[in-house]
Amino acid sequence: MVAKKALLGAAVVLLLWAFCSAAAAGGEKRFASRFRPLVTKESRTRVVETESGTITAVDVRDGCAGAYHLQFITLEPSSLFLPVLLHSDMVFYVHTGRGRVSYLQEDYKHGTQSIDVKHGDVYRLEQGSVFYVESNPSPTREKLRIHAVFNAMNIENTAEPFFGAYSNICDLVRGFDEQVLEMGFGVSKEVIQGIISAERPPSIVPYSQNETEKPSWKEGIIEALLGVRGPRDLPNKKKTKTFNFFSGKPDVENCYGWSTAVTNKGLKALKGSNLGAFMVNLTTGAMMGPHWNPKATEIAIVIHGHGMVQVVCPSNPSGQSNKSCECKNTAFRVKEGDVFIVPRFHPMTQISFNNDSFVFVGFSTNVGQNHPQFLAGKRSALQVINKEILAMSFNAPNSTLVEELLASQRESIILSCTSCAEDLAKRTESEEAREREEEEARKRKEEEARKREEEEARKREEEEARRREEEEARKREEEEARRREEEAARRREEEEEAKRREEEEAKRREEEEARRREEEEAARRREEEEEEARGREEGQSEREREGEEEPRRRRREEEEGGGGEAPWEEGGEGEVVRRSKVAAKKLYKG
Ligand SMILES: *[C@@H]1O[C@H](CO)[C@@H](O)[C@H](O)[C@H]1NC(C)=O
Ligand SMILES: *[C@@H]1O[C@H](CO)[C@@H](O)[C@H](O)[C@H]1NC(C)=O
Ligand SMILES: *[C@@H]1O[C@H](CO)[C@@H](O)[C@H](O)[C@H]1NC(C)=O
Ligand SMILES: *[C@@H]1O[C@H](CO)[C@@H](O)[C@H](O)[C@H]1NC(C)=O
Ligand SMILES: *[C@@H]1O[C@H](CO)[C@@H](O)[C@H](O)[C@H]1NC(C)=O
Repeated sequence: MVAKKALLGAAVVLLLWAFCSAAAAGGEKRFASRFRPLVTKESRTRVVETESGTITAVDVRDGCAGAYHLQFITLEPSSLFLPVLLHSDMVFYVHTGRGRVSYLQEDYKHGTQSIDVKHGDVYRLEQGSVFYVESNPSPTREKLRIHAVFNAMNIENTAEPFFGAYSNICDLVRGFDEQVLEMGFGVSKEVIQGIISAERPPSIVPYSQNETEKPSWKEGIIEALLGVRGPRDLPNKKKTKTFNFFSGKPDVENCYGWSTAVTNKGLKALKGSNLGAFMVNLTTGAMMGPHWNPKATEIAIVIHGHGMVQVVCPSNPSGQSNKSCECKNTAFRVKEGDVFIVPRFHPMTQISFNNDSFVFVGFSTNVGQNHPQFLAGKRSALQVINKEILAMSFNAPNSTLVEELLASQRESIILSCTSCAEDLAKRTESEEAREREEEEARKRKEEEARKREEEEARKREEEEARRREEEEARKREEEEARRREEEAARRREEEEEAKRREEEEAKRREEEEARRREEEEAARRREEEEEEARGREEGQSEREREGEEEPRRRRREEEEGGGGEAPWEEGGEGEVVRRSKVAAKKLYKG
C-alpha cells in the first residue's frame, strides 16, 4: 500500500518534471439557474488562450436537475495539453486532427496508457484519472480539436463543492508545505525548490515528439497493404480502444442521412459510465423524426451547417409550472459550434435546410437503458398502441384519423422534409419578432406604468411637501400671532406699569405739591405771624405814640356801636386775617 503510494508519488513527480501543468480548471462558475435549450458558440467562456491552443467552455443544464460542463479544446499541431487530474468522467469526441491521449488511471499498475486519436473518435476517461494530450505535427497545420463533456451531475444536489472539471497536477503538488514535500517525496530541498519556484506554465505548451515519431513512409504502405487507416490502429502498437463514428456502418442510414450512437456495448471505455455519444448527419431537406428519450438527456454540438431544432415540453397534468425548471415549447436555429440540450421526455426534432447538410455530435446520459421513442414513421411507438385507444387519446371520432396519421410515413427515424427548416425558421422568426414586439410592448407598458407611478409618487411627494410647507406656514403664523399677542400683552403690561408708575409719580408729585404748598403755607403763616407779631410790636409802640389818640378812637367806636373786644382775643386764622385786614382798612382809611 505504502509502496504503491510512493510509486504514484514518483510517477507524479516525474510528470511534474516533464510538464507542470497549469490547466485552469474550467467550469468553476455556477450554472445558470434557468433551463436554456440553446447555448450559442458566442456564449462560450474562454478558459485558456495560448499560442499553442485554446480552451472554451459552456455549462449546460438538463431541465431542472442535472448539469454538465462542456469544453472545446483546440491544440495547434505539435502542442501539449499539460497533465490534469480529472474530477469527473469525461467523454470526448475528436472533431479534427490527430494526437495522443495519455492517461494514468487509478490502478496505475499498467503505467501510463496511451491512445492515438483522430477525427471521429470517441473515448472516455474515468473520474480520478490523470491525463494529458499531445497533438501530432501536421503538414496541413490541421489542429487537434476535442469536444469533451464532463458529467457534473450532483452539482446542486450535494453539499460537495464543484471543483471544476479538472485540476492541474502542478497546483496539487505545489499546494503543500515545502518540508512536507521534501519528506514526502524524499528529495532534497533543491529539488523541491526547483519545483516550487518555477513559473506556473500555461495549460497548453508547444511540444515536439521528435525522436519517438517516425511518421514516414510506413504509414502509407501499411495502410495500402492491410487496408487499415494508419499505423496507430495497428494491433501491435497500443490497441485501438476508441470508437470512431466514420468507421463502419451507421446504425441508421437512408438517403436523408445517417445516425450512429455508441454505448458501453460499442466502446469498452464507456463501461461503467452513464454517458454515451452519438452523431447525426442529415442531408439537405431532411429531418430526424420527432422522438423522445425516455431516460437520456442529449447534449449536442453542431459540427457542420445550420439546422432547426424543435423541442416540445412534456405537459404537466397539474398545470402548475415549476419555476426552477420552467419549460416551454420552442424552436430555434442552430449553427456550427452551438450546443443544444434536450432533457428526457422532451419530444424533439432536428431539421436540415435545403441547401446544406446538418451534422451534430452529441453526448447522452443513461445510454445503457435509453431507447429513443419515435412518434412518426414505421418505427413509431404509436404504431404499437391499439388504434381505438389512440383515437380516444386524440379525441378523434373513430380510428380512421389516427390510422391515416400513422399509415403514410414509409421511412423511419430519418425522414424527408423539404423546406421544413426554412418554413420553421420563418415562422420562428416571425414568432420571435412577435414575441419581441410583445416583450417590447410589455416593457414599454411597464416603463409607462413605472413612469406613471413615479409621477404619482412625485406628485404625492410634492403634495406632501406642499402640505408640510403649509403646515409649517400655519405653524409659523400661529407662532407669529402668539408672539404678537405676547408682545401686545407685554406692551399692555408695560403700559399699565408705566401708567401705574405715572399715576404713582403724579400722586407722589401731588403729595409733594401738597406738602410743598403746606410748607409754603406754613412758611407764609409763619411769616405772617412774624409779620403780625412785628406789626403788633410796632402797633404797641404806635399806640404808645398815639396814647392820647386811643381813648378818642375808642370813644368814636363806642359811638358807632361796635364791640369793644380786642381783635386778637378771638382764635382762628381767618379771624386773625379778617381782623388784620379790617385793621389794615381802618389803618388806610385813617
Ligand atoms: C526535431 O528533430 C530534428 C531533426 O531530427 C531536429 O533538427 C530538431 O531540432 C528537433 N526538434 C525538436 C523540437 O527537438
Ligand atoms: C454528411 O453527409 C453528407 C451527405 O451524405 C456528406 O457530404 C458529408 O460529408 C457528411 N458530413 C459529415 C461530417 O460526415
Ligand atoms: C421544482 O423542481 C425542483 C427540482 O426538481 C423541485 O425540487 C421542487 O420541489 C419543484 N417545485 C415545485 C413547486 O414543484
Ligand atoms: C442555407 O439556407 C439558409 C436559410 O435559407 C441560410 O440561412 C443559410 O445561410 C444557407 N446556407 C448556405 C451554406 O448557403
Ligand atoms: C369516422 O369519422 C369521420 C368523420 O367524423 C367520418 O367521415 C367517417 O365516416 C368515420 N369512419 C368510420 C369508419 O366510422
